[in-house]
Amino acid sequence: MNNTQGKHYNITTFGCQMNSADSERMAGILEKMGFQYEEDPNKADLILYNTCTIRDKAEQKVYSYLGRQAKRKQEKPDLTLIVAGCVAQQEGENLLRRIPELDLVMGPQHANRLEDLLEGVFNGDRVVATEPIHIVEDITRARRESEVTAWVNVIYGCNERCTYCVVPSVRGIEQSRTPEAIAAEIKDLGEKGYKEITLLGQNIDAYGRDLPGSTASGRHKHTLTDLLYYIHDIPGIERIRFATSHPRYFVERLIVACKELPKVCEHFHIPFQSGDNDILKAMSRGYTHQKYRSIMEKIRKYMPDASISADAIVGFPGETEAQFENTLQLVEDIGFDQLNTAAYSPRPGTPAAIWENQVSEEVKSDRLQRLNHLVAVKAAERTQRYLGRVEEILVEDQNPKDPNQVMGRTRGNRLTFFTGDIQDLKGKIVKVKITQVRAFSLTGERVF
Ligand code: SAH
Ligand code: SF4
Ligand code: F3S
Repeated sequence: MNNTQGKHYNITTFGCQMNSADSERMAGILEKMGFQYEEDPNKADLILYNTCTIRDKAEQKVYSYLGRQAKRKQEKPDLTLIVAGCVAQQEGENLLRRIPELDLVMGPQHANRLEDLLEGVFNGDRVVATEPIHIVEDITRARRESEVTAWVNVIYGCNERCTYCVVPSVRGIEQSRTPEAIAAEIKDLGEKGYKEITLLGQNIDAYGRDLPGSTASGRHKHTLTDLLYYIHDIPGIERIRFATSHPRYFVERLIVACKELPKVCEHFHIPFQSGDNDILKAMSRGYTHQKYRSIMEKIRKYMPDASISADAIVGFPGETEAQFENTLQLVEDIGFDQLNTAAYSPRPGTPAAIWENQVSEEVKSDRLQRLNHLVAVKAAERTQRYLGRVEEILVEDQNPKDPNQVMGRTRGNRLTFFTGDIQDLKGKIVKVKITQVRAFSLTGERVF
C-alpha cells in the first residue's frame, strides 16, 4: 500500500444532501488511511470531486474543475484524481476515456468502499466502480462538517420513475438501513455532542419498505413514522428533521407523529414540481394538485405555524402558459417559506429528454424568472410572522460576515443571526427575539 503519511486530500462536493453525507464518510475513510485535510485543492495530493448530474449545468461544472486539475497532474504525476457521485455513475468508463489523468471513477453506492478502491489505484490501476451493489454498512467514522448538526442516511436510492429525473439511474434501487443501525449512529452522535440530526432519503416516505417483515401490500413494519418514534428519545439529540417527502406517499400519521414528538421540528420539505395535473401526470408523479393541497391543509390543521418548503420545475416538455400559471397559482395559494426552482433540463436516459414537445430556452428562462419573483414576494410576506416573536435558535456557527454575531436556525429551519460569542453559544439552544426579517433569514436579540 502506498504510504499516505504526510499526504493531503481535498474533496469538493456538488449537489444534494446525499452527496454531502457521502463526502463526509469518504473524508472519514481518507483520514483513517492517514491523509490530512487540505483546504486548497491546488496543494492537495489527492483530489476527489463528488459530483451531481441533476441538471446539465451541474454536470458541466465538474468538467471545468476537472480540466484544471488534470493539467496540474501533468506537472505533479503523483496527484490522485477521483470522480465520485452521480456523474461518475452516469458516465463510468467514458470519463476515464475522456480524461486520461483520472485514476478512479466511483458511483455513489461505492462511497464506503473508497479504501479498497484506492488500493487498486496505488497498485497502478485505473479503477471504475459503478456496478450496483448492496451498500455496506458504514463502519468508519464520518468527518463531519458541523459539530452541531449531522446528516443520517436512512434510505439510499429511489424506486420512483419521475420522467425527468436521473436519480434512480445514478443512485440505484431503494436500500433502507435497519432501525438498529440508524439508532446506533444517532446514539454515537448524541454522545459526541451533536444536537440536531437530519434523516435523509430521496424519497424518505419509502423508508423500510424493502426491509424484512415488509409486505408488498398493506402497511409495512418499519415506516418513517415508526422510525421517528423509535429514535426519538436518544439522549443528547434535541432536534430531528427529515427530507425529502414525496406527496404520493405522505401520510397523516406522519404529521401526527411530528406534532406529538417534541424533538421533531415543524418543517416539511415536500416538492410538488408542478401545479398542473396534466404535467404532474406526464412527470409520473402519482398525485394531483388537489392531493398536494390537501396535504398542506392537514399539516396546517395540526401545526398552523409549520414551515413548508418545496421544489418546482418550469418548462417541462409540453408545458403551456396556462399550465405554468397553475404552478404560479399553487405558489400564490400555499405561500411557501422557501421554494427551490429550476428550469427543466433534459437528462440522459430519462424518458422526457427525448420527447419532441420541448419548451424553448427563452420560454423556460422567462417562466423561471416570473416564478422566482413570485416566490420572493410570497416569502417576504410569510417571513413577517416572525417579527417580534421569540424563537428557539440552535446555534451552529459564527456569522462569517460578522464575528460579533452567531448564526443558527429556528425550528422551522430559518437562518437567524444575533449578537453573541460562538465559544460560549455553539451547540446551545437559546431564545432570541426577532427584530428584523428578510425573505429567507432573520436577525434578533437574545432574551434571558
Ligand atoms: N427526491 C426528490 C428530489 C430530488 S432531485 C423529489 O422527489 O422531489 C431535486 C430537485 O431537482 C427535484 O425536486 C426537482 O425539482 C429538480 N430536478 C430533478 N430533475 C430535474 C431536471 N431534469 N430538470 C430540472 N430540475 C430537475
Ligand atoms: Fe427523482 Fe422522482 Fe426519485 Fe425524487 S422521487 S429522486 S424526483 S425519481
Ligand atoms: Fe445531484 Fe445525485 Fe443529489 S444527481 S441532486 S447529487 S442524488
